[in-house]
Amino acid sequence: MYSKDQLEQWLEQSKTLCSSGKTADYIPALAKANPHTLGITLFPIGSPPISCGDESAIFTLQSISKVFTLLLALMDHGEEYVFERVGMEPTGDDFNSMLKLELVPPGKPFNPLINAGAITVTSMIKGESLIQKWERIAAFISTFLGEDEVRFNQEVYSSEKNTANRNRSLAYFLKDVGVLEGDVEENLDLYFKHCAIEVDCRQLARMGMILAGNGIDPVTSAQIVPKRYVQIAKTFMLTCGMYNASGEFAIKAGIPAKSGVSGGILAVVPGKLGIGVIGPALNEKGNSIAGVHLLQKIASAWELSMF
Ligand code: DON
Repeated sequence: MYSKDQLEQWLEQSKTLCSSGKTADYIPALAKANPHTLGITLFPIGSPPISCGDESAIFTLQSISKVFTLLLALMDHGEEYVFERVGMEPTGDDFNSMLKLELVPPGKPFNPLINAGAITVTSMIKGESLIQKWERIAAFISTFLGEDEVRFNQEVYSSEKNTANRNRSLAYFLKDVGVLEGDVEENLDLYFKHCAIEVDCRQLARMGMILAGNGIDPVTSAQIVPKRYVQIAKTFMLTCGMYNASGEFAIKAGIPAKSGVSGGILAVVPGKLGIGVIGPALNEKGNSIAGVHLLQKIASAWELSMF
């Protein structure tokens, strides 16, 4: 049903947009990515993956990791605890905006996929030490990748850690108003670490395929995450996953998706397949310019919209 030849044609068409986007440069190491890279994998539940373009390009998860730390925090604490500390609403603002934090007392972040919300969620991950928390996140994500361990980009991690004045401001504000618990710098360190986990398109699509199948591991048939938490994660992806372009993407593609500033997009067609895309040239909202175009084309031509 999903023709590779057709996919290749659409990928070539979308690729022409790469030159009108820009790689992220507020994390200096990300600016080095090739803006002309474009790759995609479709991973249907129960069938082999279909890839084309720069499918083997390796990139960091960045904000895509926020979906998985949310799942782990829900498994650690349950819904009530998590949503006492982070909201469920889109902001309509940039992903690193601090505008609404002061508008709505007591500074509770609007949702877990903006930076303020994700840093708060990261602070909820259980563990005796920073290392143990990191090992828990890495082990959880590696299960989705189908690997024994995760790859980690030390250069991207250090580059972000050394330049993250905005995230530091958000985190210290959250600490000041009592939303963030524990040591601020340790929480930030853990957050930068999970953003710097590396994947390729096939691994990203596999993550999406497991979400599409409501949290069932395709190899062991084990329930990796309770279905309810996967449902919550997919709902946030649909309403907030493409930041303040989420409404437009929901209208044009109609599927849950989460982007990262590395140019990755994780998309999910519930009950059917996971999709992983890489295209480091970003549009003005911080989403992969060619990746968004390609996903919208696929979703409309193959009628993948949920609606
Ligand atoms: O915190 C940051 O700014 C990055 N580590 C992740 C941001 C991101 O990927 C937002 N994406 N659109």
